[in-house]
Formats: sequence, C-alpha cells, structure tokens
Amino acid sequence: MMRPDYAATVKHQELLRWVKETADFCEPDQVYWCDGSDTEYDYLCQMLVDKGTFIRLDPEKRPNSYACFSDPSDVARVEDRTFICSLRKEDAGPTNNWMAPREMKNILQGLYKGCMKGRTMYVVPFSMGPVGSPLSHIGVQLSDSEYVAVNMKIMTRMGKHVLDVLGDEGDFVKALHSVGAPLQPGQVDEKWPCNPTTKYIVQFPEERSIVSYGSGYGGNALLGKKCFALRIASAMAREEGWLAEHMLILGAESPEGEKTYIGAAFPSACGKTNFAMLIPPAELEGWKITTIGDDIAWIKPDENGRLYAINPEAGYFGVAPGTNKKTNPNAMATITKNTIFTNVAITADGDVWWEGMTKEVPDGLTDWHGKPYDKFSGKPAAHPNSRFTAPAYQNPCIDPKWEDPKGVRIRAFIFGGRRSTTVPLVYQAFNWNFGVYMASTMGSEMTAAAFGNIGQVRRDPFAMLPFCGYHMADYFNHWLQLGRGLNNPPRIFGVNWFRKDEDGSFLWPGFGDNMRVLQWIIGRVRGRAAGVESPIGWMPRYEDLDWTGLDFSKEQFDRLMELDSEEWKTEMLAHEELFERMYDKLPKEYLFMRQLMLSGLWRSPGKWSLAADEA
Ligand code: OXD
Ligand code: MN
Repeated sequence: MMRPDYAATVKHQELLRWVKETADFCEPDQVYWCDGSDTEYDYLCQMLVDKGTFIRLDPEKRPNSYACFSDPSDVARVEDRTFICSLRKEDAGPTNNWMAPREMKNILQGLYKGCMKGRTMYVVPFSMGPVGSPLSHIGVQLSDSEYVAVNMKIMTRMGKHVLDVLGDEGDFVKALHSVGAPLQPGQVDEKWPCNPTTKYIVQFPEERSIVSYGSGYGGNALLGKKCFALRIASAMAREEGWLAEHMLILGAESPEGEKTYIGAAFPSACGKTNFAMLIPPAELEGWKITTIGDDIAWIKPDENGRLYAINPEAGYFGVAPGTNKKTNPNAMATITKNTIFTNVAITADGDVWWEGMTKEVPDGLTDWHGKPYDKFSGKPAAHPNSRFTAPAYQNPCIDPKWEDPKGVRIRAFIFGGRRSTTVPLVYQAFNWNFGVYMASTMGSEMTAAAFGNIGQVRRDPFAMLPFCGYHMADYFNHWLQLGRGLNNPPRIFGVNWFRKDEDGSFLWPGFGDNMRVLQWIIGRVRGRAAGVESPIGWMPRYEDLDWTGLDFSKEQFDRLMELDSEEWKTEMLAHEELFERMYDKLPKEYLFMRQLMLSGLWRSPGKWSLAADEA
C-alpha cells in the first residue's frame, strides 16, 4: 500500500486531531492521505479493478476509463434519508427532514463505531472552486471508499496542494463518509460495499460539517457536491451575503464577440448539462455557447454591487441516458477518455452504452446488474440514473474563464421546469422581486416515481428543494435582501422547453434551438430586444425572435406562448398551497405580488395570447 507520506508534514492541528479521533473511533486498518497525483489515481483505479469493482474499458475506444455497477439498493440520492440538523427545528424549515444534532449524533456514533474495520480511511483534501480564489472554500472528506477518492479527484480540485492553501489554521468543512460495511478478518469484500438498509446523509449547518453513512453513490457520497456546495454552502452564503445555487453557468458570445454570462436553475432531469453545453444551430451564424459549470454556482456581489460567479466543481457527474451525438455532442466528446461510468451497460467490445445513445440496441450487452442483457425484457440496460464522472477541462466548449478566480459577471438568471401545460416558452419577470417570486414558485413534472405520481407537478423553489440547508422562506428573504444591495441587478426569466399540444407532442424543438430564446434574453439584458407586457411578465412577440433556419409558424409560436387564465388561477392556488407551509416566515412582498398577478389575470379571462394583443 502507498505510504501516508506527507501526513508528517501537516501542521493544521485541528485537522490532525479530527483525523486521529475519527480513525480511533472508526478503526480502519490504515489511514491514507491523498496527494491528488495521477499516479495515486491510477493506483487506486487498479485496486478497484483488482477488487472487481471497476471494469477497465477498451483502452483504444475509451482510454483510461472505467465502468462499475452499484448495488441495486444504492442507485440515487436518498432525499428521505437526508437531514438538516440545525440546533432549532424552525431553522431547517418545513421542507427539510430535521433531527436535533445531539440525537442525530447519538445515532451516528452507534453506526460509526468500528465501521471502517478492514478498510482504509482516505483523507481527501479538496477545494470547491479554483484553488486560492476568494470565492472558493476548502473541505476535507474522510472516506473508506476508493471509489469516492477517485471520483473526488475528478469532481473537485483534490490533493496536497489544497492543504498548502489551508495553512496551519484555515477553516475547512468536515465531511465524514463511510459506506457502512465493516469487514471481519478474512471476509471477502462486496464489489459495491454499502449498507443496504441504513443510510443517513446529514448536514450540521451551524458546525459546517457533514456526516454520510451507508451509501457509496453520487451525491450521497461525493460530499463536495450537493452536501457541501449546496446544503452547507447555502447556509454559509446566507450568513455571509452571497448565493450558493443549483445553477449551471453558461457564456453566450454574439457574432460581434460580446460575451454574456447567465446562471440557470432547473430541477433534476430537465437537461441542465445539455443546456450548459448547447450548440447553436448553424444558421444562427457567429453565436457560440461556452460552459462555466453544469450544476452548481457560487455567486457573490463585488464592492460595486455586481454579481460574480464561479463553478465550485471541476468535473461533471452527468446523467448518461438520453445523452447522444445529437442531444449533446459536447458531453459525448467530454467523456471519450479519463471517465468513470457508473451503472451504464457495457458492450461486447469493452465500451459503454445506455438508452438513447444509439437507436439500435447493440447485441451482447452486459446490463447494469452485470448480467447478459435481454433486449426483449422490456427493462433498460443502463439504470435511468446511470452517470458519467468526467473532467470539465475535456469539454470542447469549456469557457476560457472557467477557472478565473474572480468569477464571471452574471447578467441574467433563468428558471425553468418541465411543464406540459400552463407555462409559456419564455417570459421576463417585471423586476427582481417578481423574479424571486417566480423562482420560488417554480414547479416541475416528475419523470420518475420517486417523489409522487409521474406527471404530477412538484413545487421545487429555485430547484433547491432538496438542497437548501435552511428554512426555505428564509432563503426567499435572503434573495430579496441581496437584491436590495445590487447595482443594475441581473434580469430574471422563466422558461419552459417542455410544453405539449393536445396530442402530447412537444411544441418546441428544444436543444440547440433554445439559443433563439437565449438571444432574446440577451437582447433584453442589453436593452435591445422588444417585448410586450403580459399578466405574468414581459414576453417576446413572434418577430422578436430570430427564426433563421427553423420552420416555425406564428400560429405555433402563439400557441406556445398562450396564457390560459383558468390554468393560471389554478397555478396561483398551488402557490398558495406552498406558501401556506411556510406562513410564519414568508416575505410580505409575496402576498402583494400574488394579488397583483391575480388581478392581471382577472382582467383578462379566457386565454391571453400574443395574437389577441395585436388585434
Ligand atoms: C444532480 C441532481 O444529480 O440534481 O445533479 O439530482
Ligand atoms: Mn443537480
């Protein structure tokens, strides 16, 4: 085994104390400090191959890449096992699971005693954000999983150099993780060790610490991502006057070379990675999209009240199914090498496959259970939540400023969900406050039965419902308060790529054509584009969008933009239902904004349409 060679040089007393205390309690066979080198990465991957966890893919087809299959009980984030353990219940709010920190610590201590027996405890120092950037923060994860260590190397800036920046007494987030599967002497390990019955994903916002037990998968185990960069960071951001958001960040470059950076929030399963890497239609000559990040944004006002954002992550943990050369060529290029695939299918010639990658299902697949795949079984070969972990720098459209320590200036926010009815393709909120209201009330139709009935609208404020580390209404107030201090604040837009007609067909082509919507948004931000006032905000008319190269009629567009007053009244009632849950802390502005919008809808019963507006 590699020697923990640099531990002796670490001077940070609190870090050393915590590592020792944890090792004494969890009783791993050894402690190893990750240095973040490529040699170490290769060594750990080889170890995972030897254990049977990793399968090395064909080095010609997918150089330096691996695939693995998780335990069937461990395939996704576990929201019902996720807790915000603030001291006071009212600080976690009605949308989070809560337990008193002392009570939770009792449970965790019982589970953690000796839980790393037979394993190595890895000390994984990582920086969320470019190392040394004033917008970045450091964490250290202790984990008994090699899979976690190698994924953290891709997803974060990980290794010894991070401790050099931390110094002797810098602040860091403590992130403790165990798969919860101690080994008896001589016991053969599982290929995917985890605890099939007991899982806890716990955030202690006041202590800025995380404890995760029982799962080895994704956001449950790679603690820099959802646990730190969203749940803990959102609580830090509230105290310190910044924002930690579930947002992609893209750069849009016009033919004249003008660059506009935009943050966009969508709930899970709405194609965020596709949007972040969009390739505009060739006919929109000269337009180019570049990626800063595909999932999380940390955003801070500068001394002049302008918002600057970084992507705290260094890699993509993207959903594989549905990704192909048409829907996301940049993602396909990003994952050609140095990538870890989890729960995808493996082809007979040692490459990967998933539903939607090609029309034809290849013969001789191994499915995500590791079994020969029966094409006629009616079951997918890859798990619907199967993932790739790939380094961001491999993205062909990575933005040149993606590691700029200063971040990029954000000029617009976009909020979207998956709505087959009611919500038009695009509209602009009247002002910051109305935009915050819009984002607070966004909803999305469920695509998996995990949280309710498929097709049912789940309210997901700011796409942060599973990720806000404190009371959701305090979070709304934080957005309003932050807006008060901004100078020329970013404009706020709602979008919906998923509206359907009566036959259930999508009304909008989406993907690259979303560039047309972005063009209008940029035009609005820059004071160039026209729009008309509707009861819910500003909207483009047909002639306000660039239709070059797309056969899309005015009638189609008007249908896509239509507001049905009755549907919107139902929608507003659903807002009320959400607000009622957080009555005691709800911003007073919300009451008035809701009334104003209702009165606008009341004045125009029936359908409000752009066409009627012209008549
Ligand atoms: C994700 C999610 O995996 O939002 O990014 O669920
Ligand atoms: Mn996400």
